[in-house]
This record gives sequence, structure tokens and C-alpha cells, in this order.
Amino acid sequence: MSGQLPATDPPGAPRLRELTVDAPADREASVVAAVYRLGVQGVEVRDAESGAPAGRVHVVAWLPPSPTASRAIRGLRRRLGPDARCEWRDIAVTWEAAPPAASIGARFVVVAPGVAAPPGRDAIVLDGHLAFGDGLHPTTVLCVEALERRAAAPGGPAPSSVLDVGTGTGILALVAARLGATRVVAQDIDPLSLWAARRHVEDNGASAVIDVVEVLPAGTFDLVVANLYFAPLLALIPAMAARVAPGGELVVSGFGVDARGRVEAVVVAAGLVVREAKEREGWGLLVCGWRVGAAE
Ligand SMILES: C[S@@+](CC[C@H](N)C(=O)[O-])C[C@H]1O[C@@H](n2cnc3c(N)ncnc32)[C@H](O)[C@@H]1O
Repeated sequence: MSGQLPATDPPGAPRLRELTVDAPADREASVVAAVYRLGVQGVEVRDAESGAPAGRVHVVAWLPPSPTASRAIRGLRRRLGPDARCEWRDIAVTWEAAPPAASIGARFVVVAPGVAAPPGRDAIVLDGHLAFGDGLHPTTVLCVEALERRAAAPGGPAPSSVLDVGTGTGILALVAARLGATRVVAQDIDPLSLWAARRHVEDNGASAVIDVVEVLPAGTFDLVVANLYFAPLLALIPAMAARVAPGGELVVSGFGVDARGRVEAVVVAAGLVVREAKEREGWGLLVCGWRVGAAE
């Protein structure tokens, strides 16, 4: 998420609490760690070249305004000590204009509202970059391509039920629905992503197929897809494996190719095997299924 002020402030958009810690530059690592402990999804670090005074660092993060957030910020202030300052303000959400059209996979194009899809491409309408998932990141592309391959695979129907963990804008859930899934659950823990995904599901006329939820649903799915940051990806693999139906697949991305071995180890410990591995621009994707004789 960037810290730019919104180009447009969409009606009904949530507001965010923007937190800035001003600290001596040599305390950057410990301040970043302390801010992450508030539960934020990311931070922006500004040094002397990007707006902080010489010798100081500014660590900026965003979280939903709530009494819990206020308490957490007060606790952070106490822990930071006298040489650091912590300020916050409530702002309208960041809302950057989406590029007019970006092709993704063999079949799709992500378009801003009102933009016509180029001929031969199926349009997914995404209104801005409020959450991660504009379709341009290599990990998103890897996942879209994996969904397309799975839908076109000979010898089996396209997955009819799909769980998209860490849905962001909802892009992978929308692609799964377009590829023929009749029940899609899109899950995220980030309130802004949930808001953006719900809006995009509605804008793309997919409300009858896609449910956007905050908590991992019970039950199993023909396909579970997860493009997550590295730590939650590793942590959630066992829970996601438990939601893969017999004969189903787990598709994971969000890790650098150098970390593939660590992801594979967790996949195997969860009882699955890796069936396919793909790479794009230094990022990896694994398609995993049940070991013969394991959970299925
Ligand atoms: C890298 S983005 C992927 C967005 C989209 N699925 C895509 O492929 O472009 C990761 C998403 O995972 C969400 N996330 C992070 N930790 C999570 C967790 N523990 N459970 C569910 N979602 C999580 C983030 O809020 C973010 O929207």
C-alpha cells in the first residue's frame, strides 16, 4: 500500500489511521519490528533521501481506526522511549488510478471501470489499487496462469469450488469464477482488502458465486489458491491443506524462488506433494496435491 493521498476518494471507502514514528536512523530495524507487532500488513520507511530529516528515520504504517488501534499506538509510544516520537492521523484511503488495461494470463485483461476490453480478452474490472492484486505482480500472474491451466486440463472438469486465501482485490476469485467455478470463497484478514474485494465482486456481477469472508471457512474445496506474503503463507499451509478436497489441489505463490525449498518442506509436512513448480521474475509457484494414500 502506498502513502500517496487518494486521487479519488470512492464513496463509502473506509478511513485509515496513518501512523508515523520518527526515530534516530540507527533504530530503524527495531522500530520497524515494533510497528509490525501492531499487526500492520506493511510499512514504508522514509530516510533522509525520502523526506526524513538527516540522521532520522520515519516509519509509516496504516491500520483501521478503532479503539484497539488507539490502545496499541499508545502502547507503542510508551515502548519507543524518549528519542522517538509517534504521531497519527486519520486519512481517507489511498486510491490510485488503475492502468486502463493490462492483459493477464492467456484469457484475461484487467480494466478500469468504463474501459473496453481489447478484442479476444475477457475483462475483469478493478477500480484502483486500494488493495494488493491489480493483476500485474508476477505472483498474481503465476496464479492466474495456474488457474487457467487447471481449467483447461484434459481428463477432468474445471474445479467447481475454489477457496482464494489472501484475496486482496479479489482478482483470483474473480478469475476462478470466470473459469467456471460455481462456488468461490475469497478470504482476507485486511479490512481494506475485504472492502475492495466485495466492491469488485459486485462490479463484476459475481455476487452469486463469490463470498468474501474474513475467516477461513470450514469444509473442503476442489482448489485452494493462495498468493500470500511469506510468513502467513508458511503458517497457513497446514490449514489450507486441510481444506483441499480429495483429488483437489493447493496452488501457492508469494515466495521468492530461493525460498522454494522451505515452502516445499511445509507442503510435504502437511501431507501433500508438489506436482508442478513455475517461476516468473524470481517468484515461485507450486501446485500441490494429495500424496497417494494420504488424506484422500
Ligand atoms: C500478496 S497479496 C495477494 C492478493 C491477490 N490474491 C493477488 O494474487 O494479487 C496478499 C494478501 O494476503 C492478505 N493476507 C495477509 N496475511 C493473511 C492471513 N493471515 N490470512 C489471510 N489473508 C492474509 C493480505 O491482506 C493481502 O491482501
